Amino acid sequence: MKKILTVALAGVLAASMMFTGCSKKEEAKSEGEIPKTIVVGTNAEFPPFEYVNDDKEIDGFDMAVMKEIGKRLDCKVKIKNMEFKSLIGAMESKNLDVIAAGMTVTDERKEAVDFTDSYYTSNQYIIVKEDSKVKKISDLDGKTIAVQEGTTGDLVATGDYDSVKDAKVKRFKKGVDAVMDLKKGGSDAVIIDANPAQEFVKANEGLRLIKDQSSKEYYAFAIQKGNKKLQKAINKELEAMKKDGTFDKLIKKYI
Ligand code: ARG
Repeated sequence: MKKILTVALAGVLAASMMFTGCSKKEEAKSEGEIPKTIVVGTNAEFPPFEYVNDDKEIDGFDMAVMKEIGKRLDCKVKIKNMEFKSLIGAMESKNLDVIAAGMTVTDERKEAVDFTDSYYTSNQYIIVKEDSKVKKISDLDGKTIAVQEGTTGDLVATGDYDSVKDAKVKRFKKGVDAVMDLKKGGSDAVIIDANPAQEFVKANEGLRLIKDQSSKEYYAFAIQKGNKKLQKAINKELEAMKKDGTFDKLIKKYI
């Protein structure tokens, strides 16, 4: 009897071990993977985070960080340049492994993609003509605002954050085109993230910057929903880059 019981127990044990083995494997599968070539989507219209440089290469802080992460993970990095508002859809249809585009973490985006740890904190700034009467964000109520389509600047102008009311919003594929529209009098202001706003004002005469510090935003890299492996790997390398000074070196070089 005792023997039978032992054998039976051993059987149960073996079966349960097999079972855990199986479910572990399943789990590993659903954790995602780190691809040999990491396909990175961006919109190279957002200096200093991503832009096309004088040699017609896609350059900028985000690109430099992603290339460094690729090197450390022993992966190739392939960059795909596209419209900003197409990035999330391209990731949902699995054409991108990472979005590196100065992308702000928002609740709505979190429904479609996962994000790594944040690597940069920003605000929305307002660009107006030097002689504009606009002094603060609420002065934009009812005015015409130019933005890059699908960005958080677009959301602010559209009234999603209650800071601007009843504005007419003109949406452009490129931030620089929104700035050109302001310059030629087509709109009263541009709302865009702080760093590109500064770059655009530097590069164009007759423009002035209004710094709205109220809207903190956190940039992170987006990855396909559920790709925990890639998420963990990027977070680990980001932290290592911060510890060993590489991250600060790239901040100094680009920002
Ligand atoms: N941070 C803003 C957002 O997430 C703007 C990002 C625009 N990035 C770009 N590469 N054009 O909506």
